[in-house]
Amino acid sequence: MMARTSNKFNSRLSSVATEMEIVLAQILPEPAGPQSRIMEAMAYALLGGGKRLRPFLLIEAARMLGKETKGIWLAAAALECVHVYSLIHDDLPCMDDDDLRRGKPTVHKAYDEALAVLAGDALLSLAFEILTQNSIHSNADVRIKLIFELASSSGTHGMIGGQVIDIYANLSDQNETLITHLQALKTGALIHFSTTAGGRLAGAGEKDLQNLSTYANALGLAFQIRDDILDVEGDITVMGKRTNKDAGLGKATFVSIYGLEGAKEKAHKLGESAKHALEPYGDKSDILCAAVDFVLNRQK
Ligand code: IPE
Ligand code: IPE
Ligand code: MG
Ligand code: MG
Ligand code: MG
Repeated sequence: MMARTSNKFNSRLSSVATEMEIVLAQILPEPAGPQSRIMEAMAYALLGGGKRLRPFLLIEAARMLGKETKGIWLAAAALECVHVYSLIHDDLPCMDDDDLRRGKPTVHKAYDEALAVLAGDALLSLAFEILTQNSIHSNADVRIKLIFELASSSGTHGMIGGQVIDIYANLSDQNETLITHLQALKTGALIHFSTTAGGRLAGAGEKDLQNLSTYANALGLAFQIRDDILDVEGDITVMGKRTNKDAGLGKATFVSIYGLEGAKEKAHKLGESAKHALEPYGDKSDILCAAVDFVLNRQK
């Protein structure tokens, strides 16, 4: 049963990733004009890599509620643009100073720092341009809601806020409350957007949105804990990014306060709560529940 769920999950994830690649290629601006190198850098960062987990969660949340439209694919593409922008900037020398991402040189290595900053900025702008399109959803109020939620989950009370805490947290003030908050913002907020946006586009009511939100909050935290575990245990060739960096940089993570076993236990418990939140949907939640196991066991 478990193996069957996981086979089904793997083929769904890979088919979403394949479809997503096509949509992402379509939304990118064609390289043109004297600024064509920016379009090239955007394509370099956005195409050909990544698990596409956030788009997957958005699409599968909508599917769980019985709706699949062209709009969910476009919204998922906008979300991936914001995620990739966050990765480009996260890797910059002034941030984590990484030279490998998704198995290839980071944007500032393949191009230069100026272009990496600008490619990130341009992907962020592109995301909001996409969300204004009528094909996202015919009701402009729904589009405005999504624009507001993507802006707030990537801003100072979301991803950016988390990155700031991540960079400036002192080793001395590390505690579970701070780390939970940091991770909820840094990674959790965009994962929260993934599922609730899928829900909104599928016409979810308040109760559904609440369930998706509870699921995503637990999943997002588990996702970042797994990322921190993989920084210690992961294989660079599988991960496509450098490992063994966080401790040296003095990063506040669950691993830094509770060790690997404590962090794994915490992630497991969060996984259980994520699945629990989707109990009302019965079999319909199989894929999103399998996504929890994927997040807990992933090697990259
Ligand atoms: C990496 O995210 C950055 C974090 C928030 C931990 P992913 O692990 O989803 O990276 P990709 O998109 O698969 O490359
Ligand atoms: C970054 O967290 C989260 C983002 C908002 C991009 P990390 O710095 O741990 O992500 P990786 O390990 O470089 O992918
Ligand atoms: Mg970082
Ligand atoms: Mg990093
Ligand atoms: Mg990391």
